[in-house]
Amino acid sequence: MAAKSTHFGITVRNVTKAFPGRDNGPDFLALDDVSLDIGPGEFLALVGPSGCGKSTLLDLIAGLSTPTSGELLLGDTAITGPGLDRGVVFQQYALFPWRTAQANIEFGLEIKGVDRRARAERAREVLELVGLTPFAKHYPHELSGGMRQRVAIARSLAYEPEVLLMDEPYAALDAQTREALQSDLRDIWERTGTTILFITHGIDEAVFLGQRVAVMTSQPGRIKTIIPIELDHRDVDDLRSTPEFVAYRRQIWGLLHEEVRKAFQAHDPALAAATGVA
Ligand SMILES: Nc1ncnc2c1ncn2[C@@H]1O[C@H](COP(=O)(O)OP(=O)(O)O)[C@@H](O)[C@H]1O
Ligand SMILES: [Mg+2]
Repeated sequence: MAAKSTHFGITVRNVTKAFPGRDNGPDFLALDDVSLDIGPGEFLALVGPSGCGKSTLLDLIAGLSTPTSGELLLGDTAITGPGLDRGVVFQQYALFPWRTAQANIEFGLEIKGVDRRARAERAREVLELVGLTPFAKHYPHELSGGMRQRVAIARSLAYEPEVLLMDEPYAALDAQTREALQSDLRDIWERTGTTILFITHGIDEAVFLGQRVAVMTSQPGRIKTIIPIELDHRDVDDLRSTPEFVAYRRQIWGLLHEEVRKAFQAHDPALAAATGVA
């Protein structure tokens, strides 16, 4: 598969998302005036405390929900609904249990109307890309958690989306599998040039993967800071132990910790004071 250089970027402009309040209560402001540009072919990692609106933002970009105000663009085109130009990968592997790995991967291509031979060929290409060629005929229950997630990624890549939107895709995996998949994803990204938005609450994961790491504030969610990551991924056996990596980790940990503390204080000021977190 040849690397594409024509992938679109994503523009999020002054986006606010409010959810209707329960029992006639006030609306809940999940995102407040969020602006974010993800360049064509960029790999952006997004971190933020739990409940800050990361998934809400991803759903908006995926076209699964609409903003209360503001606009979202893919390239120059307004996002008005879901589409095969955006591949979405969630934490839980949404594979069809009755289909083999290959048939799962072919699913999106079937919808697109790609003929059988081309589908099979494309499935073989992406299976190779994620290192699962020997497992083409296996069913999801015959695969490990890490392999299933690779099938999910392969399925998204199969129809060559402009962007990959990934919402904590590795959160349920053990540490070793997670690190292996992080390396896989970096390789895939380098080979395909796909624009990637990767949501995680793992600081190491964000620093390892992202060309930039965006940090969100806690409730309501805003973009607090964006940190460009300049790490040389070549010829480093243990990138995570380098002083540069450790410095990024510490910086982002500090930014996140501030937000977690604020969220805690807002939720339970008495407990925050009693435990010295305030
Ligand atoms: N459909 C919904 N209706 C009401 N509130 C919601 C809905 N979806 C999310 N929220 C709220 O919006 C906030 C942000 O949620 P979410 O985007 O899932 O956070 P994150 O992914 O960062 O953990 C949370 O407080 C959540 O309870
Ligand atoms: Mg979430």
